[in-house]
Amino acid sequence: MMWSLWRCSSMTGSSAFTNVRVFKCFRQFVKNYNISARMPEAIAFQGVSDHSGLHKFSVNESETFWGALASQRLSWISPFNTVQNCNFSQGKIKWFEGGKLNVSVNCLDRHVHTCPERVALIWERDEPGTEVKFTYRELLELTCRLGNLLKRLGVRRGDCVTLYMPSCPLAVASMLACARIGAVHNVVFAGFSAEALADRIRDTQSSTVITVNQGVRGGKVIDLKRTVDQAVQNCPSVQQVLVAMRTENSVAMTDRDVPLEEEMMKEDVVCEPVTMDSEDVLFLLYTSGSTGKPKGLVHTQAGYLLYAAVTHRYVFSYQDGDVFGCMADIGWITGHSYGVYGPLCNGGTTVLFESTPVYPDPGRYWETVQRLGISQFYGAPTAIRLLLKYGDEWVQKYDRSCLKTLGSVGEPINREAWEWYHRVVGGGRCPVIDTWWQTETGGICIAPRPSDPDAEIIPGMAMRPFYGIKPALLDAKGEVLHAHDSTGALCISMAWPGMARTIHNDHQRFIETYFQPYPGYFFTGDGAYCSKEGYYQIVGRLDDVINVSGHRLGTAELEDVVSLCPGVAESAVIGYSHDVKGEGVYVFVVLKKGVEVQEDVLAQQLREMVSRNIAKYASPDYIQVVGRLPKTRSGKIMRRVLRKVVERKTDDLGDLSTLDDSEAVHEVIRGHQRLH
Ligand code: WTA
Repeated sequence: MMWSLWRCSSMTGSSAFTNVRVFKCFRQFVKNYNISARMPEAIAFQGVSDHSGLHKFSVNESETFWGALASQRLSWISPFNTVQNCNFSQGKIKWFEGGKLNVSVNCLDRHVHTCPERVALIWERDEPGTEVKFTYRELLELTCRLGNLLKRLGVRRGDCVTLYMPSCPLAVASMLACARIGAVHNVVFAGFSAEALADRIRDTQSSTVITVNQGVRGGKVIDLKRTVDQAVQNCPSVQQVLVAMRTENSVAMTDRDVPLEEEMMKEDVVCEPVTMDSEDVLFLLYTSGSTGKPKGLVHTQAGYLLYAAVTHRYVFSYQDGDVFGCMADIGWITGHSYGVYGPLCNGGTTVLFESTPVYPDPGRYWETVQRLGISQFYGAPTAIRLLLKYGDEWVQKYDRSCLKTLGSVGEPINREAWEWYHRVVGGGRCPVIDTWWQTETGGICIAPRPSDPDAEIIPGMAMRPFYGIKPALLDAKGEVLHAHDSTGALCISMAWPGMARTIHNDHQRFIETYFQPYPGYFFTGDGAYCSKEGYYQIVGRLDDVINVSGHRLGTAELEDVVSLCPGVAESAVIGYSHDVKGEGVYVFVVLKKGVEVQEDVLAQQLREMVSRNIAKYASPDYIQVVGRLPKTRSGKIMRRVLRKVVERKTDDLGDLSTLDDSEAVHEVIRGHQRLH
């Protein structure tokens, strides 16, 4: 039966361990600086005795630091000859050039060699109590079979394979199979619509898509294959769709479709890993920006993997034997770096969570923690805010003594949620680690740990830059704010191995977005405050990106969809503060002349359009029809003013000297009062 394949129980055959030689590069550096293999647990750099000393070393002697870590933590087929070769003004980011390795070998084979029966994945399926464990040996076999299947189907080194799958072992094995054969993966979050999926397939020119017949989430069955069918109708590049069976319901198959398990089982469990250059592309991941369509950020092999692994180990104090519980879906960067690559590179045990925080009830997370023995729980503030509303009993019902560290990611964590997470979930025992980073950064850049276990953690602050990260705050004129206790645009002043290398097919956009706003710096798009003590707190986006339940959405992207509605002449989308989602979506609409429509009918229509063109989570919360939008004399929509209206701060609208027509503002205010 197909289903058994999801359990791997019928898999036998020899282990596919590939004997890759581990080269020790930078042996001299290692010797000179006495960097022990356990660094920085032992904080073993010569003359460095504490966290801040090691941080200083990592930025002042960045090449030594990263060179030593790369040679010690990764298994190389041949050594690299330069540590970094970066130039921000050209958007050139290269690490460990000359080095050759295979990422899947680093994540699998070397652990199969030392501990084949260690659990690599725990698949926490939607239905509680039905988890499935995969050892490193089993995951390697799965990966090899898939790698061989992809090769048989004509996928070659450098080809892009799009995945539209929920978090599950076959998705992880598909990612690693791509890495093994040198293909590039492009995981599209399985909540995105057919349109959004099609956009991403077209941009990558994928000829192969991997999906499942149906997804299962929160007790509901979701027809993922049907969405893929709709998407590929408009994607001439697609030649084949591999379909795994997550449920036992059969789905219509066409000539293009390949039954994944059936074909995979014909393949051998040994698949020779391809030798990759450090800077070959590992994956693309699309994310929203402030303008235009979502951009495909490009991450490469060695630097990304090293950064994911090192941050995973030190930010969360991950140790052998721990069970790492990252709740994020593999469709987001958090799922990539801390659900898959970081933990597996470290030989850890990682949980793939398929369900929701409230299924079958609001105790789900903590019941899972107890049942799986999760040591590090890594979740999103939006879920914490939702759960705290249900009360403490849902947490206290379960034994959480296995928990050591609580992580937060994706958006600012407000004080109330932080306190509840710390006091109720962690019983006041576990450090709460607020981690700031982005799809672009590849891994965590600012977080309270690593630092001395006794060092203070301030609620709601990401606090300390990670090793090798040198943040800078800049003011509107582009001047660096040297004094602490200031707020500015958050930039990073030197390269680190995990950063994205480019935007797929648009290097110019990469340069313009990240390196031109503040020459000499990588601009994150976020604003931050730096306290007197030098601790960072993220204050939110400075651009037109909004953050709904920890997911990025471009206002321009939403406006493009709204403008597709036949009656709409123009629109402006803003984010407003929402007590569970962090930000909600508020749409102002100007109708075409002569068009009359009931507001609730229009609202329904727009919500459907957004769900159809982007995703359900992007669906607008409020829609307000206005006669005109407040604009500057040069015709730019004043979103700042609209935000103030929605926040009910109309007595503090700020500088209106450039406003073209003040009546437009009054009209918006009156309309808002009428609606709320
Ligand atoms: C926001 C998610 C405050 C921020 C890993 C960033 C945060 C964007 C935090 C990236 C945090 C992420 N505190 N804001 N701890 N973490 N953000 O690319 O605005 O999906 O720029 O990566 O989320 O979102 P992305």
